[in-house]
Amino acid sequence: MKSYKEDICPERLPQHVAIIMDGNGRWAKAKGEKRTFGHKNAIKAVRNAINACNEIHIPYLTLYTFSSENWNRPADEVDTLMNLLSETLLAEAEEIFSKGLRMHVIGDVTQLPELVREQLLNVVEMTRDNTSGNLILALNYGAQKEILKAVKEISSKVKEGIITADDIDEKMFSRHLYTRDFPDVDLLIRTSGEVRISNFLLWQIAYAELQFLDILWPDFTKEDFFKCIVDYQTKERRYGKTSEQLQNN
Ligand code: IPE
Ligand code: IPE
Ligand code: MG
Repeated sequence: MKSYKEDICPERLPQHVAIIMDGNGRWAKAKGEKRTFGHKNAIKAVRNAINACNEIHIPYLTLYTFSSENWNRPADEVDTLMNLLSETLLAEAEEIFSKGLRMHVIGDVTQLPELVREQLLNVVEMTRDNTSGNLILALNYGAQKEILKAVKEISSKVKEGIITADDIDEKMFSRHLYTRDFPDVDLLIRTSGEVRISNFLLWQIAYAELQFLDILWPDFTKEDFFKCIVDYQTKERRYGKTSEQLQNN
């Protein structure tokens, strides 16, 4: 059977893909299982996304793994998610390393359990010289908090006279976000059929292409990912210009 991969144009790849990995709970419920069964079955889909990205050489992949609002879930579900994260980091560290991927974390890691934080830092440190691609985990991440943090940092610089208010522009603001070292998102994918952003990368998706898939995250395959890229490549990204202007260039 033909793969969508064959239809991908390597010259027009998105540089940064971000995914809201949603629908684990519903996937489990549909099978008469507990929500946590869905989380356990989500790891394969994570691997699929990472491998697909790696195969076609997309340099930045950001995965929404745990939001700052997800702490409001039942304690046993939060515990399962943290344990799963810890186990997965341990089990997959070598694989991430051997693929040449560099791992990064965005979000407030100080509130994560000690063990998870240590394991994260360990993988981040272990992969810091890798150059084949960047895997960015959004953990205890909330975009509004990220923006407020930047505003606070910038305003104290103004107060201390390090910069003036006139120095504040989009570029300098971006440098105060967790994502300072990464390009803006080109393609945002959300699974589960929900059409919302849920406090993810609000600043960075200003001009992203958005794709909402009717697939529950544990069912997400490499082919689904490749199809997203093919669909992305059919879009004309105009950035406010007209189609004619783009064609004349
Ligand atoms: C996404 O799946 C995983 C996390 C948010 C951690 P959900 O757990 O949100 O699954 P649904 O949306 O309830 O089906
Ligand atoms: C967004 O999914 C967070 C992650 C995928 C980690 P949620 O399931 O938490 O989002 P809402 O609550 O449905 O908006
Ligand atoms: Mg959800």
